[in-house]
Amino acid sequence: MEGPPASWILGPAVLLSVLAGLASCHGTCRHRPPPPGEVHHVYLKPERLMKRSSDDLQLKIKIIYDYSVDHLPADKRRLVKDKLFPQAIDYLQRAFSVRRRVGPVLLSRQCATNQYLRKRDDPHRYCQDACADITRCGPVIVPQHHLQQCKVCSESGQSCGPLGPPDSPGVEGSDFVLYVSGITTERCGQENIVAYAAYCQLEAELDRPIAGYANLCPAMISSQPQEFEGMLSTVKHEIIHALGFSAGLFAFYHDDEGKPLTPRFASGLPAFNESLGLYQWSEAVIRRVSRLWDIRGGEMVRHQVHVLVTPRVVEEARRHFNCPILEGMELENQGGTGTELNHWEKRLLENEAMTGSHTQNRVFSRLTLAIMEDSGWYRANYSMAQRLDWGRGLGCDFVMKSCKFWMERQKQRLQ
Ligand SMILES: *[C@@H]1O[C@H](CO)[C@@H](O)[C@H](O)[C@H]1NC(C)=O
Ligand SMILES: *[C@@H]1O[C@H](CO)[C@@H](O)[C@H](O)[C@H]1NC(C)=O
Ligand SMILES: [Zn+2]
Repeated sequence: MEGPPASWILGPAVLLSVLAGLASCHGTCRHRPPPPGEVHHVYLKPERLMKRSSDDLQLKIKIIYDYSVDHLPADKRRLVKDKLFPQAIDYLQRAFSVRRRVGPVLLSRQCATNQYLRKRDDPHRYCQDACADITRCGPVIVPQHHLQQCKVCSESGQSCGPLGPPDSPGVEGSDFVLYVSGITTERCGQENIVAYAAYCQLEAELDRPIAGYANLCPAMISSQPQEFEGMLSTVKHEIIHALGFSAGLFAFYHDDEGKPLTPRFASGLPAFNESLGLYQWSEAVIRRVSRLWDIRGGEMVRHQVHVLVTPRVVEEARRHFNCPILEGMELENQGGTGTELNHWEKRLLENEAMTGSHTQNRVFSRLTLAIMEDSGWYRANYSMAQRLDWGRGLGCDFVMKSCKFWMERQKQRLQ
């Protein structure tokens, strides 16, 4: 027996997804890389052998719910704990594996003052005089049993050593600890967002984020079924910022051999760019290129864009647009200061989930998997990528020139 034609089946489904899209406007994402003073590098011991088989490197994310999640209304709490985060994590764990496993994850303590010290040939960080009573990851207070022993130096800097309770057991069997909270923060009120996330501590050897937070803005959590897909992709999007796709991490990307793509000082850190408020990446990660933007009165107008130029991203971008001379994938750069380079350029990738504003039918494409691989921290399973149709095969005119220019070209061709 023949079924109804495919278009008949698709019709209502498409209509429903359009309606769902209209109902679930989650606005834009304003991911903020945390200020450098809040990000610690942590020395972790190589993973104890025998814990897991060595070829099973699938990314393991451990979710720790802050008490604020338990204080959400029951329907929201259940949505967050039973569906949203488990499903987001499940996707990300299947999509990525880690290149180097360390563990257990044990976070370093914040200092009582902003004075941190390092000793030569010692990977640990020391506080001047005292550690802080509590250590935070974003808005979340890190449980004491996830913390390393406090390490301090006396005021003279002469005597340094451990102080207070010894190292905790830490979080075993995970590569990344995600602290999830549901706190109505100042940002929730200002930005009309469902959630935001970032990393808070990086592992010292390869700089891979090993802990981060995701805060949900309670008033924006909706338990309406038609909102679910949008919120799920928002949560995945935010966790991807915490895992690696962040302007604050570009300077820490490594190549396949584990070498930093940006030169380091003796301190082990790249240069800090004060005007960006970020560590400065090298041209092996991001380059500025000039684009033909418009033609006014016969005169060409050019503008500068930032493109991500790591190898897999270049390859995927060229293939996606069918443009073999494309330098790399353009990043969004509203305001032009470079501080907003946290997303793919919307004009070029529209409904790709790592663009900065949320539209319907968001997909995590090969490009997003590629940037995560090019961080040097993960491998991606490309069969987890979703098909992106926007821009596909449209060629160099589409991707290297302005939208207006491209449309006028198309019009001329039709005439
Ligand atoms: C810092 O960033 C600004 C803005 O992108 C850039 O113009 C400047 O060249 C950077 N400074 C260094 C030292 O790279
Ligand atoms: C990649 O993902 C697909 C789909 O989930 C799965 O069938 C396959 O086994 C995965 N491959 C690897 C190497 O993990
Ligand atoms: Zn974002």
